[in-house]
Amino acid sequence: MREQLVREVEIIPLEVCVRNVAAGSLAQRFGLAEGTQLPRSIIEYYFKSEALGNPMVSEEHVTAFGWATTQDLDDIMALALRINDFLSGVFLGAGIRLVDFRVEFGRLYNNDDEMRVVLADEISPDNCRLWDIKTGERMDKDRFRRDLGNVEEAYQEVARRLGILPEGGPRDLKGPSTMQ
Ligand code: TMP
Repeated sequence: MREQLVREVEIIPLEVCVRNVAAGSLAQRFGLAEGTQLPRSIIEYYFKSEALGNPMVSEEHVTAFGWATTQDLDDIMALALRINDFLSGVFLGAGIRLVDFRVEFGRLYNNDDEMRVVLADEISPDNCRLWDIKTGERMDKDRFRRDLGNVEEAYQEVARRLGILPEGGPRDLKGPSTMQ
């Protein structure tokens, strides 16, 4: 539960957002009601710069400024859609609607200097919008952003439904153990 294998990547300076349902900044930008199903999944790119407020950018900006190549973008788009399909299924099985998420990618080099683009981010209620299928209740960081309360309980409920939190709660987790 507390171990992970970490590989160093060359981070691509983009936040890649996949949206299935109108919410947040997309709903605002186009005057859509939150919860409107989008005609298809939409991918957006944001330039990673806190100083500039992570502005949304087009593929033209990305390739012209050299943040990523056309091939990188093809790989990113294919991976982002696969991740979306996979996660949508996982969450659906837990009674949760995957509304949108935002992740980063990186270039991973092997010894022969071959490169492949890989996901280089966490996936959690901090960077996804997760709504209860039945009630539409927010189970993600919007509870914090919008001051809805019960942030911790919502995150724990997501973990519990995914089967990664013991029934008794986080205190049931065993401490780290030595692996042979
Ligand atoms: P947005 O609707 O505010 O653009 O957010 C879209 C998704 O991206 C949503 O799941 C929250 C996530 N997100 C981040 O992970 N980091 C951020 O800095 C922002 C603004 C959004």
